[in-house]
Amino acid sequence: MCGIIGITSSKPVSSAIINSLRKLEYRGYDSAGIATLSEGVINEVKSEGRVENLEKNSAIKGMLGSVGIGHVRWATHGIPNTINAHPHSSETVSVVHNGIIENSTILKKYLISKGHKFKSQTDTEVIVHLITEYLKEHDLKNSILKMLNQLHGSFALGIIFKDQPDLIVGARRGSPLAVGYGPNENYLGSDSYALKSMTNKISYLNDGEFCIIKKDHVEFFDKEGSKVNKKVLELSTDEQNYEKGDFKHFMVKEIEEQPTTLKNCIKEYIDTINNDINIYNFPWDLKEISSITLIGCGTAYHSCLMAKYWFEELTKLDVTIDIASEFRYRNNRFKKDNLYIFVSQSGETADTYAALDLCNKNNMKTCSVVNVIESSIARDSNFVLPIHCGPEIGVASTKAFLGQMLVLYILILKLASLRKDLEKNKYVNKIKDLKLLPKLVAETLLTETKIQAVSSTFTDAKGSMFLGRGFSYPIALEGALKLKELAYVHAEGYPAGEMKHGPLALIEDGMPVVVLAPRDSYYPKTISNMQEVIARGAKVLLITNKSKDEVLSENIWETIEVENTNDDLLPFLLTIPLQKLAYYSALKKGYDIDKPRNLAKSVTVE
Ligand code: M6R
Repeated sequence: MCGIIGITSSKPVSSAIINSLRKLEYRGYDSAGIATLSEGVINEVKSEGRVENLEKNSAIKGMLGSVGIGHVRWATHGIPNTINAHPHSSETVSVVHNGIIENSTILKKYLISKGHKFKSQTDTEVIVHLITEYLKEHDLKNSILKMLNQLHGSFALGIIFKDQPDLIVGARRGSPLAVGYGPNENYLGSDSYALKSMTNKISYLNDGEFCIIKKDHVEFFDKEGSKVNKKVLELSTDEQNYEKGDFKHFMVKEIEEQPTTLKNCIKEYIDTINNDINIYNFPWDLKEISSITLIGCGTAYHSCLMAKYWFEELTKLDVTIDIASEFRYRNNRFKKDNLYIFVSQSGETADTYAALDLCNKNNMKTCSVVNVIESSIARDSNFVLPIHCGPEIGVASTKAFLGQMLVLYILILKLASLRKDLEKNKYVNKIKDLKLLPKLVAETLLTETKIQAVSSTFTDAKGSMFLGRGFSYPIALEGALKLKELAYVHAEGYPAGEMKHGPLALIEDGMPVVVLAPRDSYYPKTISNMQEVIARGAKVLLITNKSKDEVLSENIWETIEVENTNDDLLPFLLTIPLQKLAYYSALKKGYDIDKPRNLAKSVTVE
C-alpha cells in the first residue's frame, strides 16, 4: 500500500527514482510522483495513474537535483487524482507517506488556525505543515521528534528539506521502511525489493524509529531521539526472477512456475532419501504446545483454513484460525501452551503484523510462514518457515498460496509424526506422495482448453458460486476470491452443505456454479448438493479428480479432471483450474490482470 523511495547522491536522482517506482508499483498504482531539491528549490512532478504516465510527463525530463523522494499511491484519504498524489510539499519540505494519520482532522484544524493553507484532501498534508511549523522554532531533529509525537496511526515517511541539500529523513511507525547503502549515495525504500537493483546492503527501521540519511552517512534514532546502532544486512544476490519473460502477465508466469516453486520448497524441507522432514532449530519442546492458532488475511487466511483441516485430520492438537483484522481487536485468551502461526506472502500485511505484535507483547510462541524472509513479520517472529517460492509480483496470490499450503502441510506432518499422532508408515507414505506433487501440478496445468472455453460464461455472469466440502471448502473460498479480484464478477465461496440454509435462493437459470468434488470421503455428499443446484437451473462446472468411475449425475454443464493423489494433496491440484479460470475470465474482459482495480500487493494499512 503506497511505495516510497528516496535517494541522496552526488549525481541527479530523478531517473533512478523513476526506475525504483516502477518496481514499487505493485504496492499502489493510482498515482505517482517525485520531488527533488535543486539549487534550494523543491520541485514536484505528479501524475494520475501509472508510473508510465509520470514518465511521459514533460516536466520530468531534465528534472535536476541530487536528493529526491518518489511515491506510488494507493488512495486512503482523497480520491486518486494529481492533487492528492504524493509528494506533498510546502516551500520548506516535501513529504511522501505510506499509512494513515488517524488524527489528521484535528491536526488540520489546528494548522489552519495557525494560517496554513491546504491543497489536497489527504491526511499526509498535515505532516508537511506540522514540520514547516516546527522548523520555524526548532532544529531539524527536534522538529521531526515533535511532528512524530503529534501523529496517531501507522506510517512510513520520507522527507526532504529546502535547506538541507544532501539529506532525507525516514520515519516508521507500523508501516515498513528500509535504508540501503550505495557507493557515495544512500537510499530509503518501502522494502528491500525497491532497493535491490541499487544495493544489497540494507538496514531496517524498527517500529518508532527514524533516520537521517546523507549521501555518505546514515544515523538512526529511537522515538526519544537517542541514537541507535544498526546492523547492515547483506541480502542474498541469488538471481531472482523479477521479469515477466515471454509471459503476457506475471500472474500466468507465477501459475506456470508452481511445479518448480513446489519442488524448490520440498528440497528445503524434505529428506528425500530417508523420507523424513527437516525442520531445523524449532525452538519449542513438543510438550509445550497443546494447541495452535493460525492467523492471516485474504488468500493467506484460506491457507490457514486448509491447515486447520489437515491439523485435525493428522494430529490431536486443538486448532483455531483467525482473520488478522478480527483477531487484533478481540479480547483474546492468550494461552502459554498455544503456538500462534502467522501466514503472509509479503510478511508486511498490517493486520497480520499487528496480530503478531499483540502475541509477542503477551509473550506467546510465534511462528511465521512467509515468502519474503527479510519482512517485518519474519523478523519479529520467534521462528520462521519460508515458503521459498521467489518473488510474487501479480497482485493475485497464486504460487504463494500453494507454497503456504505446502509448508503448513509439511509442518503438520512433522508435528504429527513427532507427537506420534501419525504412524510411521503413514508418515513415510505421505512424504512419498508429496515428492510427486510438483509433477502432478505440472500435469494438471495442462488442462487448459476447457477452462478457456468455460471462462466466458463466468465473464458474462451477474454472479457465481464456488462450492466444496471438507478439504475442498477452503479451495472454494480461494477460487471465489480469485474470480472477484481479477474478473470483478461477484463470486461466493460456500460449504456445499450450507446451500439449503439460504444461498440456494440465489441460484437461477444459467448461473455458473463451480463444484469441487474430488473422490474423497465427502464425494457422495457433495454430488448430492451439486444435484440440488442443477435442479434449480445452475450451470455446473464440476472439478473432480481422474477416475475410471463415471460421475453419477446428469446435466452437468462441464467437467474438469485433475490428476490423482491422496486426499490430503488434492486441494493443491483443485486450485490450478480455479487460478486459470480467474485468469482467463479477466483476460477476456481485457482487465489489468497483474494490477486489479482498487487493490495493491502489499496491504500495509489496516
Ligand atoms: O502478503 P499477504 O499474504 O499477507 O497478503 C494477504 C492478502 O492481502 C492477499 O492474500 C490478498 O488476499 C491477495 N490479493 C489475494 O489474491
